[in-house]
Amino acid sequence: MKIAVVGATGLVGTEILKVLAERNFPVTEIIPVASEKSIGKQVEFKGKQFTVVGYEDAIKMKPAVAIFSAGGCTSLALAPKFAEAGIPVIDNSSAWRMDPTKKLVVPEVNADTLTVEDKIIANPNCSTIQMVVVMKPLHDKYKIKRVVVSTYQSVTGTGKAAVDQLFAERSGDEEVKKVYPHKIDLNVLPHIDVFLDNGYTKEEMKMTNETKKIMGDDSIAVTATTVRIPTIGGHSEAVNIEFENDFDLAEVTQLLSETEGVIVQDDPKNFIYPMPINAHGKDEVFVGRIRRDESQPKTLNLWIVADNLRKGAATNAVQIAEYLLSKGLLA
Ligand SMILES: NC(=O)c1ccc[n+]([C@@H]2O[C@H](COP(=O)([O-])OP(=O)(O)OC[C@H]3O[C@@H](n4cnc5c(N)ncnc54)[C@H](OP(=O)(O)O)[C@@H]3O)[C@@H](O)[C@H]2O)c1
Repeated sequence: MKIAVVGATGLVGTEILKVLAERNFPVTEIIPVASEKSIGKQVEFKGKQFTVVGYEDAIKMKPAVAIFSAGGCTSLALAPKFAEAGIPVIDNSSAWRMDPTKKLVVPEVNADTLTVEDKIIANPNCSTIQMVVVMKPLHDKYKIKRVVVSTYQSVTGTGKAAVDQLFAERSGDEEVKKVYPHKIDLNVLPHIDVFLDNGYTKEEMKMTNETKKIMGDDSIAVTATTVRIPTIGGHSEAVNIEFENDFDLAEVTQLLSETEGVIVQDDPKNFIYPMPINAHGKDEVFVGRIRRDESQPKTLNLWIVADNLRKGAATNAVQIAEYLLSKGLLA
């Protein structure tokens, strides 16, 4: 099966190639697409080199699916061209996520809504994906009323240039081109994506709005504070969830440990809890610090960590492709 990876030279694109190889997706040929400056460059997949091409050539090569991670503007411009040629697109940018005609999919939560009609499928925001994977079984059992989340997000969430800024600052190079408005090394920025008129950032409102859409329940209230920290392994989240119905803590832990794609790491006495340094390169979502909020009833505190380039982007997109394949929805 020919697979186009649009944005193949970027952080997420590189991870998509790794995940396709690791999960043995039945790839016969990779068609790497990037910006004009990269056309002709080589990209490696399973020890073979593939040449980066422009999007027009990629469409002519008739891939079975195109996985996009090339930014919102590129997606808005190019995804419809692939879709019109009958090539399903799985898109990592925010371009199509809240379009009511497009599905926003986390396979563990709502892959069963996909049909052959879905030619552009949106991959949610990284911080939302890891949260809803954990929330879904809890919502089904106890019904979630309200979520208060604070994030601790990796610089890898901003792309290659941000990782370069962090390491340049760490090596004493203060002249590096800044992606963030402030120094990131030895700092914490309560600011991810642009500020909106309501005082929240776009990332914060993505967590609110995308959660409702993926869970298919507008009644779930979500308030978020999203924060960038100088780490590279993944995103961490402190999540406070208020339910309609009361829960048993042991049952919550049991439920989460039986949930596909979730690994419980919760043994604080032995210093076992999720951390980005351990989540790095893994496909699962890690949850720990599972405890009752003692300030009000029917409320739970959790600490959720996942590699934003994996489950937060590449793995989720490849899992969508795997679902389409398993249901005979790929040509
Ligand atoms: N990083 C994350 O955690 C994360 C998570 C979820 C979603 N995303 C989304 O995934 C996308 C990529 O993120 P990233 O972190 O991988 O960024 P990145 O490292 O900056 O990579 C961007 C990629 O897009 C390509 N590109 C840029 N303009 C293009 C064009 N006009 N046509 C074709 N390709 C073009 C670049 O090619 P060149 O190398 O030629 O410039 C590069 O391959 C963004 O939409 C981002 O919001 C990122």
